[in-house]
Amino acid sequence: MNRAWYSVACAAVLLSAAPAVVRADNDEVVDYRRHIMRTLGEHAQALALTVEGKAPAENFNLHVKALALTSAQALKAFAPRAEGGNARPEVWQNWTDFAARMNELVTKLASLDKRAQTGGMATAVPELKGALTCEGCHEVFRTQHSAARTARVKENPAVAYRRHIMGAIDAQASAVGQILSTEIPDTNLAAHFDVLAVTAAGALKAFEAKVPGGEAKSEVWSRWPEFEKHMQEFAQNTAATAAIAREQGSDAALTSAMKALTCKNCHDLYRDKK
Ligand code: HEC
Ligand code: HEC
Repeated sequence: MNRAWYSVACAAVLLSAAPAVVRADNDEVVDYRRHIMRTLGEHAQALALTVEGKAPAENFNLHVKALALTSAQALKAFAPRAEGGNARPEVWQNWTDFAARMNELVTKLASLDKRAQTGGMATAVPELKGALTCEGCHEVFRTQHSAARTARVKENPAVAYRRHIMGAIDAQASAVGQILSTEIPDTNLAAHFDVLAVTAAGALKAFEAKVPGGEAKSEVWSRWPEFEKHMQEFAQNTAATAAIAREQGSDAALTSAMKALTCKNCHDLYRDKK
């Protein structure tokens, strides 16, 4: 996906001079909202691992924040009536109900986030189940469960955990790619970079457990200070891009966005893509 994204990003630079008329077609709209939902899925699974004591507890708050920020991207992404994917037509037929459920998720996650920021995992966990209203909505508005969910159960949790983190980064970067290539109107750009920054800030923790496997090269650990530097730069640059996008608009954020998305630089050194 990375290479494809890069060509999209480069095309975006060329296209940026053209008038920004954005007419998303159906498939693009479906892809976009699925990137957002996938981000929720990756963070929810990563969160579960922290609660089960299989991943660093320090990252609990980060996943809650990322879920809160990402949930706020979702309703806009479903607003265009683009049937397809695993969304039932009822999403649009019963839009009021769908929107109420999505807004409820946003409100509950915002409150959970507040609780986590003030009291940490111990105070937030009792609220967790009530906040994650995911399945209730899926039962009504989604056609099927994705098979990917169970695929990693047997994997070492330390490896699964960091792959959920990279998966969340991947899903948000894919959404950004769609916006930069003007496939999708820009209503969420700053929010995507917020989630990227929050996620990247905790990514290093996910690699601290020195468990080989997945697609990680041994260089992650044998050259840890450099890996650390790459990841910290990624976190800083995505945070900076979020700030520019919010304060000056997305055109102004384009250069910063390109600089931030250094996925390939890091993967060339530390990831063995299978
Ligand atoms: C208001 C309804 C609603 C809520 C709340 C909701 N979802 Fe979804 N979700 C959907 C719909 C509809 C789809 C199918 C989208 C499509 O395929 O176009 C979906 C799809 C998904 C997918 C599959 C994405 C993909 O790659 O195709 C995942 C994963 C997911 N949701 C996770 C979650 C998690 C985790 C939560 C809770 C934190 C959540 N969802 C809350 C409606 C909801
Ligand atoms: C600082 C280094 C670094 C940066 C920056 C980085 N990655 Fe990664 N990424 C890795 C490593 C290492 C792995 C292998 C993890 C493993 O399998 O254990 C990985 C794995 C992945 C995977 C595979 C996930 C899976 O399911 O196994 C995807 C997709 C991915 N990265 C996307 C991205 C995207 C998109 C960006 C940029 C927006 C990015 N990464 C930025 C180091 C990085």
